[in-house]
Amino acid sequence: MEIKQATFVISNTDVKKCPTHSLPEYAFIGRSNVGKSSLINMLTNHKGLAKTSSKPGKTQLINHFLINKNWYLVDLPGYGYAQVSKQSKKTFQKFITDYFKKRKELVCAFVLVDIRLEPQKIDLEFMQWLGENLIPFSIIFTKADKLTEKSITDNIDRYKKKLLENWEGIPPFFITSSENKTGRTELLTYIEEINSSLKEKNIF
Ligand code: GTP
Ligand code: MG
Repeated sequence: MEIKQATFVISNTDVKKCPTHSLPEYAFIGRSNVGKSSLINMLTNHKGLAKTSSKPGKTQLINHFLINKNWYLVDLPGYGYAQVSKQSKKTFQKFITDYFKKRKELVCAFVLVDIRLEPQKIDLEFMQWLGENLIPFSIIFTKADKLTEKSITDNIDRYKKKLLENWEGIPPFFITSSENKTGRTELLTYIEEINSSLKEKNIF
């Protein structure tokens, strides 16, 4: 799929204020600093579209980006950032969980995982929660440019093994780097396929 147009639409903390015209959307979630906003910029070929930072906690709101006037990419705040107060953690949890539970347009959550790290409890628990709430998700491994091919393979194998302790199968997964655009074509093709199948079924 070619991205011809990518525009910022709205930021907010209230699922009720998200865009109302019904189009399929894909949300990026994961630990702070994992590379959610960078990935959106990489996919859209638009450097400053989503705000990024080397400091965790940059994205604080639900951000909608309209792509080709046809579907949305949604940038979300990260979880697991120790520096935020208990109160803002609670507020965060409420609006993010509300978003996932109530947003009917959400067709797939992409859970981003840093490919360098061993499986993190917080990510596994979040995937568990998505499963319990019947929210379809795929995994995106980020920052692949930081590892050798061999370590990538080893770490993916380790991750799969960990997932199989709790799941019967492995969800679709992608290996990406926002630095060198690894995985861009695969991800866009995946989204395009879902969009087409939804259209065929007259959903949206
Ligand atoms: P929050 O909004 O704070 O939750 O973070 P985020 O997940 O949106 O991360 P963001 O995209 O802001 O990136 C965090 C840091 O990681 C930045 O310094 C990015 O340059 C860096 N980064 C993101 N993706 C990659 C990647 O694929 N490779 C490398 N080497 N660095 C990356
Ligand atoms: Mg961000």
